[in-house]
Order: sequence, then structure tokens, then C-alpha cells
Amino acid sequence: MESKRPVVVYGANGFSGRLVAEFLREYNVPFIAAGRSKARIQDIMSRVPGIETANYEVVEVGDSVDDLVKLFTGAKVVCNTVGPFIYSGPRVVEASLKAGCHYLDISGEQAWIREVAEKWGAKFAAKGLLAAPATAFMSAVSDAAIRLCLEHGAIDTIETLTMFKGIPTFGSTQTIFAVIQTDAHYLEQNQYKTWPRAVRYDAAVPGYIQTQMALAWGGFPQPVWFKDHPQVANVRSIGGLLDRQIMEGVAATEKMFEEQIRGLPKQEQERRLSEMANSVQGNTPPRENTREQRTIDVVAGRGSTDFVQCVTFGTCCYRQTGLIQAHIAHSLLHSAPRKVGFASAAEAFGHRELLKVLESHGLAKAKIST
Ligand SMILES: NC(=O)c1ccc[n+]([C@@H]2O[C@H](COP(=O)([O-])OP(=O)(O)OC[C@H]3O[C@@H](n4cnc5c(N)ncnc54)[C@H](OP(=O)(O)O)[C@@H]3O)[C@@H](O)[C@H]2O)c1
Repeated sequence: MESKRPVVVYGANGFSGRLVAEFLREYNVPFIAAGRSKARIQDIMSRVPGIETANYEVVEVGDSVDDLVKLFTGAKVVCNTVGPFIYSGPRVVEASLKAGCHYLDISGEQAWIREVAEKWGAKFAAKGLLAAPATAFMSAVSDAAIRLCLEHGAIDTIETLTMFKGIPTFGSTQTIFAVIQTDAHYLEQNQYKTWPRAVRYDAAVPGYIQTQMALAWGGFPQPVWFKDHPQVANVRSIGGLLDRQIMEGVAATEKMFEEQIRGLPKQEQERRLSEMANSVQGNTPPRENTREQRTIDVVAGRGSTDFVQCVTFGTCCYRQTGLIQAHIAHSLLHSAPRKVGFASAAEAFGHRELLKVLESHGLAKAKIST
């Protein structure tokens, strides 16, 4: 009998899931393309470029923890691409742990990253397993760039800006709206502080003449990754889309949420946010175009006398996400991570390595200035 394929992509028919599959095929990693509709997964998989040479199977799975444990048992790595992760992350991370699998996901929601760190990190560490949420463009690239900056000076204070041009998918739009209900935090002297709600930030972005509009957008993962860091004490992360009109829309929704929705019962809040997201994006956008969907990550590091900046110019945030997931899943099949339990992709397999992989695919390039 053929042994179990070592990687499970959960949500494989999604915009990001299919890109994870595309890059797993590039790495020659056999995988299970899983989700809640066999027909939808088969349809999408049949259109993944180069899929005819991939070693994969399609599996339909129920959404209970037991169903997922059954699917994951015997595999080594779970790549979870089903968001919003504050809703569907808990059952997948629990099933991964029970099945003895490393857990990766493509979330960017700070509230979820904190939940993984605080509730699941020690349990994964006890089993020698990695739990690495946000193994994705937002914010694994920025995290790798921060770690590069730390090599260049006595830096204890970090500000990051992550922006991309693109058409958010159905799942991303649902998530952008879902995080509005959560508290966003930055780090001040290694303590979480709450960002003020519904505030717009103007940002000067290298490579652009006009300022861009950014938001705290749920807080981003970086403050969680550096919460107990021995060197970095302060982290503020903001970001958004390189599209002022969309960002104005999100900011207006944040304001409206505070005025009209926050007082409602939680379920009603979630329903209203999901409904608003549906009205913005109900479809799947076309495949990304490297000449159009550009990305930028800016990291500014300060110490008392030192300053270092890293700007990562890139393209196609969803393809970056597919590559980062596949690279880390592949790495886990070939060597032990440098850290188990809760960790970022760069902590687990190296920040320079991660940036090199992106650069070698023409998807992102980091430039340091001091
Ligand atoms: N951090 C980053 O840089 C980054 C990058 C990309 C995406 N993301 C996040 O990743 C998530 C997915 O994004 P996407 O662009 O791939 O969205 P998408 O194209 O809408 O795909 C979502 C996938 O999740 C599945 N799904 C949704 N709800 C489900 C549920 N309750 N149970 C089982 N499966 C479910 C969908 O399956 P069905 O077809 O059956 O509905 C589909 O396969 C979002 O939260 C997004 O914000 C983050």
C-alpha cells in the first residue's frame, strides 16, 4: 500500500491553497489537496499549472476536529489556508496537534497568532512540533527583514509597514472585515498596548511619490513574534493595500463598526461583518500579474545611536504566500526546525534563507541601508 502523502493542504481549492499546491509540486512534495468539496477541489486542481507532474490526491473532509484528525494522521505537515483564522483556526490547530503534525497557516490576524502562541505553543513544543501561523507574505517577509536588520546594529525599536497592490480574494476580504472586531496591539517595552481604533495613518512609502494610507489592521503578527525577544522591546506594525480608495472604505467600516455594531452580541457582529465583506468581494480574482500586483515591506529599526532600514520590494503577495508555505513544508520534511512550538517561519528555518528563496523566484528582494 502507498504510504500517506506527507503534506495536507487544507482549503486547497482556495486562491492561496492552489498556489501552495503549485509550489509543492515545484518542490516535488507529495500532498493531499483537502477541503469541504471534492468536486470544487478537483476542478481547481485540474487547472493548476504543471499539476500533471504532481504527486497528489484529492480528499473531501468534514469540518469537525475528529474528521480532521483522521485526515491528518500519518501526514507530517498541515498547511492550513482556511480563513478567517479566528473562526476556523482553532479546530485545525487542535487536529494537527492530535495527529502529531507540524502546523503552518497563512493567517495574518494578530488575535489568532496570539492564540496560537499562548494556547498552543507549549503543547506543540512538548511534542517536538512546529506551530507557525502567518507563514505567508503578511508578515513572514517583514519578520525576515526585521531579523536581517538586527544583524546590523544595536536595534531595540522596530516599525514596519507592509503594503500590497492587488485584488483581495473572497477569503481575504472576509478576514479584513472579521479582524475589525478584534483588538490590535503594538509592543512597548515588551508589553502589549492597544492601538486606538479606527485611525488612519499616512505613510511615506519608498518608490512612491504620493503618501499611502495604512491602518493598524488587527495589529499584524510582528508584536507577537517579538513579545519576549531579548533585544527588541518596541514593535509597531501597520499596513494595507496600495489603493487609497479601498483603504478609505475599510477605515470608514472600522468607524461605522465602533458607532453601530460593537455594542451588538458577538454572533451578530460577525454576521454583519461577513455580510459587508460579501458585498465588497464575492468572487475569486484572476491570477496575479507580476507587472501589476507589487508589494512593499519597510522595516525601520532604531537604537539609541543606531538606525537601519530594510526595504523589500516584491510582487504577487499570494504567490509569495504559496512559495513560503511550500518552502517551509519542504524544509520540515528534510530537517528539524531550529525552534519548535510557536515560531515564525524565519525563526524555524532562517531569515536569510527565506529571503533568498523569494529572491531566487523573482518575487521579492530585500535592500538594507544603515
Ligand atoms: N497573510 C497573508 O499574506 C495571506 C495571504 C493570502 C491569504 N491570507 C488569508 O488566508 C485566508 C484564505 O485566503 P484565500 O485568498 O485563499 O481565500 P479564498 O480564495 O476565499 O479560499 C478560501 C478557502 O477556504 C475554504 N473555506 C472557507 N470557509 C471554510 C470552512 N468553514 N470550512 C472549510 N473550508 C472553508 C474555501 O473552501 P470552499 O470553496 O469550500 O468555500 C477555500 O478553499 C484568508 O483568511 C486570507 O486573509 C493571508
